[in-house]
Amino acid sequence: MVNHPMNQPLKIGLIGCGGVMRGFHLNPGWYAVPGAEVIAACDLYEPGSRKLAADFNIPHTFTDFRDLLALKEIDAVDICVPNKAHTPAVLAALEAGKHVLCEKPLAVSVEEVLAIRAAAQKTGLVLMTAQHHRFSEASVAIKAWCDSGALGEVYHARVNATRRNQLPINPGFIDPTLSGGGPCMDIGVHALDTALWLMGFPRPVRVSGRAHTNFAKGFDIPGAWGEWDRTLFGVEDFASGYVHFSNGSTMVLEASWLQHQEKEELNATLQGRKSSIRWPSGHFHTVTNRALVDGMVLPQQGRRPAHTEEIIAFADAIRNGKPSPVPVDETLHVIAILEAIMQSSRLNEEVTLPDFSKMTAAA
Ligand SMILES: NC(=O)c1ccc[n+]([C@@H]2O[C@H](COP(=O)([O-])OP(=O)(O)OC[C@H]3O[C@@H](n4cnc5c(N)ncnc54)[C@H](O)[C@@H]3O)[C@@H](O)[C@H]2O)c1
Repeated sequence: MVNHPMNQPLKIGLIGCGGVMRGFHLNPGWYAVPGAEVIAACDLYEPGSRKLAADFNIPHTFTDFRDLLALKEIDAVDICVPNKAHTPAVLAALEAGKHVLCEKPLAVSVEEVLAIRAAAQKTGLVLMTAQHHRFSEASVAIKAWCDSGALGEVYHARVNATRRNQLPINPGFIDPTLSGGGPCMDIGVHALDTALWLMGFPRPVRVSGRAHTNFAKGFDIPGAWGEWDRTLFGVEDFASGYVHFSNGSTMVLEASWLQHQEKEELNATLQGRKSSIRWPSGHFHTVTNRALVDGMVLPQQGRRPAHTEEIIAFADAIRNGKPSPVPVDETLHVIAILEAIMQSSRLNEEVTLPDFSKMTAAA
C-alpha cells in the first residue's frame, strides 16, 4: 500500500452521476472528507454529469470514463453506474492507477470478481466495495459486541431483504442486461454482506436456491415507487437460498421486491452458542445462571450517515496505507453465494463452491 501525503489534496473522479451518487456519495459523502477535491464527473448521459458539475462546482465533465481516467491528477474514483457496468469501469480505473470505491454489487459474477481481484493485487491500490451498512451506528456496535465473544460460535443465520411493494422502476435494476440480477443483487447483497461480516466470513461450500418471478410481470401489487416496464422486467422478484459453510454453520437467505408481507424487512439474525442477536435492531437473547435474559446493543452514537462513514474509511485507507475496509476477498464470497442461488435454481440442484483463495482469474 502507498500512503497519500496528508498535505496533498485527494483528487476524486465520479463515474455515474445518478441517484446514489448525488443523494449519498457526493454530499455529505465526499464533502465530509478533509482535503478531498472532486475534480471530475462522468456520465453516459451528458446532461446528468453537467448538472451535477454545475450544482457542485466540479471543473471537468465527461461521457466516457476512459477520458476521466486519463486525467493524471485523479487519485481515486467513485463508481456508481448500473451493476453490469461496474467491472469494465473498475478494471479500467485500476489499470489507470486509481484507487477504486465501487457501489454494490462490485460485480455480478464470480468470474468478474476474480478478474477484479487479480487486477487489484497487481497494483496495491485500495479497492473497496461500497457496503455502507457495515458503517452504520447499529452495525458498528453490533460488530464490536459479536467480536467480544458475547455471541459465541454462530451455527445458523437467517438473512432477510424482503419488501412488500418497493420495486425499483429504473431499467438499471430490472433489465438484466444492466442489473445482472434482481432483489438478490440489489438488496440481498446488503443483508448478506452484513451478516457474513458479523459472522467473521466463514467460507461458503454448498448452496441451494430457488428464484421466482411471482408478481412483477402482472399488475396486482401496486408499486410504491411507480410503474415499471413489464416487458423490460427480466429478473427474479423473489429468491431464497440455503448455504452451508466449511465450519458446519448454515444460513437461510430471502430477498424480494414484491410479495405479501406487512412491511419492508432488511435484517439478519445470528444464532450463536452463547446468545443470538438481531441486526440492525441489536436485540439479543441469552441465558445467565439458568435465567433467560433479553437485552439490546445500543447503536454507537455520534457517527455520520453510513454512506459518509464508508467514504471517510475509503479515504483514510488511501491516506494512511491501510487495507481496504471492504476487501475483495470478502465480496467474492458474497457474490459467489448470490450467483450460486441463481445457478442452483436454474439447475434444480445444489451447487458446490470451490476454495476461492486457491483460484486465479483464469481458472
Ligand atoms: N448503497 C446504496 O445505498 C445504493 C442505493 C442505490 C443504488 N446503489 C447502487 O449504485 C449503482 C447506481 O445506482 P443508482 O440508483 O445511482 O442508478 P441511476 O440509474 O440513478 O444512476 C446510474 C447512472 O450511471 C450512468 N451510467 C450508466 N452506464 C454508465 C457508464 N458506462 N459510464 C458512465 N455513466 C454510466 C447512467 O446514465 C446514470 O446516470 C448501482 O450499482 C446500485 O446497485 C446503491
